[in-house]
Amino acid sequence: MIGLAYKALKPLLFSLDPETAHEVVTGPARAMLAMPGGEFFLRGSLAFGSRRFRSTVAGIDFPGPVGMAAGFDKTAELYPFLSAAGFHFVESGTFTPLPQDGNPKPRLFRYPGSGTLINRMGFNNPGIERAKSEFAAQDRRRRKGIRGINIGKNKITPNDAALSDYSKAFTALQTFADYIAINISSPNTPGLRELQTVGFLRELLQELIRLRSANGPPIFVKFAPDIESTDFVPLLEAALKGGAAGVILTNTTISRDFAIEAEATTMEGGLSGRPLFDKSNEMIRLARQAAGSDFAIIGVGGIDSGPRALAKILAGANLIQIYSGYIFQGPMLPSTIARFLDSALKKADCNLSDMVGQEARFRALLKSIP
Ligand SMILES: Cc1cc2nc3c(=O)[nH]c(=O)nc-3n(C[C@H](O)[C@H](O)[C@H](O)COP(=O)(O)O)c2cc1C
Repeated sequence: MIGLAYKALKPLLFSLDPETAHEVVTGPARAMLAMPGGEFFLRGSLAFGSRRFRSTVAGIDFPGPVGMAAGFDKTAELYPFLSAAGFHFVESGTFTPLPQDGNPKPRLFRYPGSGTLINRMGFNNPGIERAKSEFAAQDRRRRKGIRGINIGKNKITPNDAALSDYSKAFTALQTFADYIAINISSPNTPGLRELQTVGFLRELLQELIRLRSANGPPIFVKFAPDIESTDFVPLLEAALKGGAAGVILTNTTISRDFAIEAEATTMEGGLSGRPLFDKSNEMIRLARQAAGSDFAIIGVGGIDSGPRALAKILAGANLIQIYSGYIFQGPMLPSTIARFLDSALKKADCNLSDMVGQEARFRALLKSIP
């Protein structure tokens, strides 16, 4: 029913500015969750689970591999809805110490022909204090599912004071997080990507681990896809040695070297969606090879179908996230992916964790899928 309603509404939604469409959809979505029986209805319509999915990654027991990527729940308010709407985990944020308006609008652009989004949002968010009270209110009712919290620095904070912003955000939000993601890879905060150095990463991880409370959350580092592989391997080693539990690969790209709409080739911002798929897979493959089987990898970039989710897992991701695909395919995508993965696992008679990084072993299975 929700799938049909979405199909009927999609032309209208896509005629609106993307940010307006986001608000038009998320308001009623939250209201639906608040209705008596709303959560039950959402789970019944949109969620899919399987015992073959269960895995422990970075010490966390995940019920399944399909996550919502950072940037969709920028206010902390959508986490309960998304957790009921088929996502096995949700990453909220990016949150910065102070509230920020982000860049001037328009700042989000859709290109349905190539399945591309370009955004230059610039960390619009209500700040850590507001996020903290929202999460606290949610948790007083009941923590609904695995919650990652993504943190960043304010635009006005110079890079030589960035450590202090990450420390403040970490300290404020760690209690509410099953994991913390450090975002040093958004292209829309000037200079942020310059923090992707071995020196800064070492210092940052050392400080956050010092600030982490007993039983505090594992830390993930989110990287850009635009790092040369010769620079990436030392960064990965710094993350591993510095005590990160894993990495998130990848954020949006500044490259326009894709078959995309002419307007998109000159549009400023970070590109996500279908064209990012191969580039992020290459980094996942490299990271899995370099870091071995114990390191956790969340794979994100260009997933808009079950086969693409499976390909990311075979490339080396323990878990996957989606954002752009959800915009283009709609609310059935998480359960469509989950159902597909379950049928692939049944066919191969194994569990999800057996497939991580096993491209060679399961190549035939992947090829047999249309
Ligand atoms: C509109 C928009 C806003 C985003 N905001 C954030 C953000 O605040 N923090 C972050 O780490 N990633 C952010 N991302 C990047 C996504 O989390 C993800 O890494 C990227 O979009 C690639 O996945 P996809 O191809 O499935 O969209 C944003 C992406 C989009 C499209």
